[in-house]
Amino acid sequence: MRAAVLDTLGEEPVVRDHPEPGEAAGHTLVSVTAAPIVPLDQLVASGTSYFGRPVTPYVPGTQGVGVVARSDVLPAGTRVFFATSAGIGAGNGSLAQRCLVPDDAVVPLDPGVPDAAAAALGMSAVAAWMALTERGRLQPGERVLVLGAGGAVGQVAVAAAKVLGAGRVVAVCRSAAAQERARRAGADAVVLLAGDVDELTARLRDACGSSADVVVDPVFGVAATAACRVLADRGRLVNLGGAAGDLAEFSSAVLRSRTVDVLGYTNAALRPGQRRQALEAVFRHARTGRLAVAHEQVPLADARAAWRRQAAGQAGVRLVLTP
Ligand SMILES: NC(=O)c1ccc[n+]([C@@H]2O[C@H](COP(=O)([O-])OP(=O)(O)OC[C@H]3O[C@@H](n4cnc5c(N)ncnc54)[C@H](OP(=O)(O)O)[C@@H]3O)[C@@H](O)[C@H]2O)c1
Repeated sequence: MRAAVLDTLGEEPVVRDHPEPGEAAGHTLVSVTAAPIVPLDQLVASGTSYFGRPVTPYVPGTQGVGVVARSDVLPAGTRVFFATSAGIGAGNGSLAQRCLVPDDAVVPLDPGVPDAAAAALGMSAVAAWMALTERGRLQPGERVLVLGAGGAVGQVAVAAAKVLGAGRVVAVCRSAAAQERARRAGADAVVLLAGDVDELTARLRDACGSSADVVVDPVFGVAATAACRVLADRGRLVNLGGAAGDLAEFSSAVLRSRTVDVLGYTNAALRPGQRRQALEAVFRHARTGRLAVAHEQVPLADARAAWRRQAAGQAGVRLVLTP
């Protein structure tokens, strides 16, 4: 089969012939129809993450959409979303024509959600959903601040906050294109991520109408510092990524005086049942058009160039490979 294969950590995968996945007990063989390149894939493939150094060569791709080719738990031909631990654990990933996946990581896909749209949402959407619900404990009427709101996690966080009944949703983005994506996702106000932390704090306070109850933060750094300062009493900041850097400064006075929670979240800690439930919720709302991630389809043959664009921050939208 054809696959994007990573030979050297820190470099780009090369599209070439690769052995078929074969069979294993408790595993489903999926014919892949759409697979996104996500930041986690590139973090893992860099060999510098807290997941450790993957054994090379391997096929990257921690998630995808496809059709069951062979399975003990689902009929052949079932459309599915699947997650893999490519580069984190044993086995190859989704950037290939076929992928062998543990049975409990395969979830039947709602027929109303097209393959590429489902792949673009995937685990990025799950992270946004869980950050708002399980970790952020969002209540109807509360005000939500979404950092990195033009990215995949951010677009879903904005739209999901609306689905969950947030009273006001404020988006923080860098580029004009990202601001437009956040508006399309349903943000009530969009704040430009610029200036020093005091200026940003003032703009966030203005846009939120004094304070925010829940912050969804895939960015960290200065944006998280400013967002923490505008948390309401009993506010929750949920960090799920460090797109801007690995460190942020939080004031003890802010944390104590408002009894705020600063929380971490990772999809890696989800049990299969939790992942399935979150995916089902995401796809239910995607079918009615309420959750979406802007994306571009790219042939698997062009995986190397797509990987390079994503790594350079030039993708703009989620790139979804189609074998
Ligand atoms: N914990 C988890 O389970 C989990 C799950 C999914 C993702 N994540 C993490 O969340 C982060 C975002 O993921 P994604 O899927 O949304 O990625 P994405 O679609 O590629 O978007 C990247 C986002 O990061 C922002 N960004 C990048 N560099 C930045 C910088 N220097 N300063 C400020 N903002 C910056 C971008 O802002 P603009 O749009 O304004 O350019 C954009 O919103 C990644 O770090 C990813 O690893 C974590």
